[in-house]
Amino acid sequence: MGKLFGLLGHPVGHSMSPIMHNDQFSFLGLDCYYHAFDVHPNELENAVNGIKALGLSGFNVTIPHKVEIMKYLDEIDEEALQIGAVNTVVNRDGKLYGYNTDGKGFAVSLQTIAGADFLNKKMLIVGAGGAARGVFVTLARMGANAIDIANRTVEKAEELISNNPYRVQSNARSIKEAEKNLAEYQIIINTTSVGMSPKIEELPLQLTNMQPGTILSDIIYNPLETKWLKEGKIAGAVTQNGIGMFVGQGALAFEMWTKEKPDYNRMEQIVMKQLG
Ligand code: ATR
Repeated sequence: MGKLFGLLGHPVGHSMSPIMHNDQFSFLGLDCYYHAFDVHPNELENAVNGIKALGLSGFNVTIPHKVEIMKYLDEIDEEALQIGAVNTVVNRDGKLYGYNTDGKGFAVSLQTIAGADFLNKKMLIVGAGGAARGVFVTLARMGANAIDIANRTVEKAEELISNNPYRVQSNARSIKEAEKNLAEYQIIINTTSVGMSPKIEELPLQLTNMQPGTILSDIIYNPLETKWLKEGKIAGAVTQNGIGMFVGQGALAFEMWTKEKPDYNRMEQIVMKQLG
């Protein structure tokens, strides 16, 4: 019997997950199907009960349900608990297990451009919201050496850092401070929505003091190349957009659900084609 997977979000109309996963299912000859469900926040609990009743094999969770969903799951993995959000759920014999593959997906994609020793480099995360938390917790758990956090609201950066039990060295910075000391960082990651379509002219952080050769990673993929990445490239940065994180999180979820390794490059190509 075929297996059904899904996405719970609101809205979900523009999601690239269905096409990415369904292509991979047919490519690998798996009798599986992935459908995006638009679930209003008031209906989340009903939706989860429905999933259990209908026996979906697993699902992704996206905005605005990543935190709220945790209430309705049977077990939550330790990393997801520390991040405080779940984006992937696996149904095992009627029990729902929650995971977070966003941070790992990001880390895997960062490693491809930053090299095997990337955890030893000094990093700066811009932003201190949900996406920043996922990236910070995962990199810290993996053993990162030094990660500063710069945010418009510095208190939020301080809070993120203070709740972390890892050995990583971390300082909270204002955006201005970070801009002034930008040459310290070998990897700079934008996790804010600043520069996302339609406000494509905005920059999360000025790059005037950046060293050439710095790795700039933006988790935004719409547009594919933000103004921030364009400016960084001109100033000699090695740049990466948010497709890597998106495909990475999807590939990890796919593997958890099917126990098969998906073709990462094919997934990436299909998403690029969609956005192209
Ligand atoms: P997400 O889950 O996508 O991380 P979030 O939790 O709402 O979303 O966090 C948004 C992040 O983008 C925050 O770091 C926010 O800064 P504040 O904590 O100061 O609000 C940042 N952000 C959003 N819009 C911004 C803007 N116009 N200028 C600067 N930072 C912005």
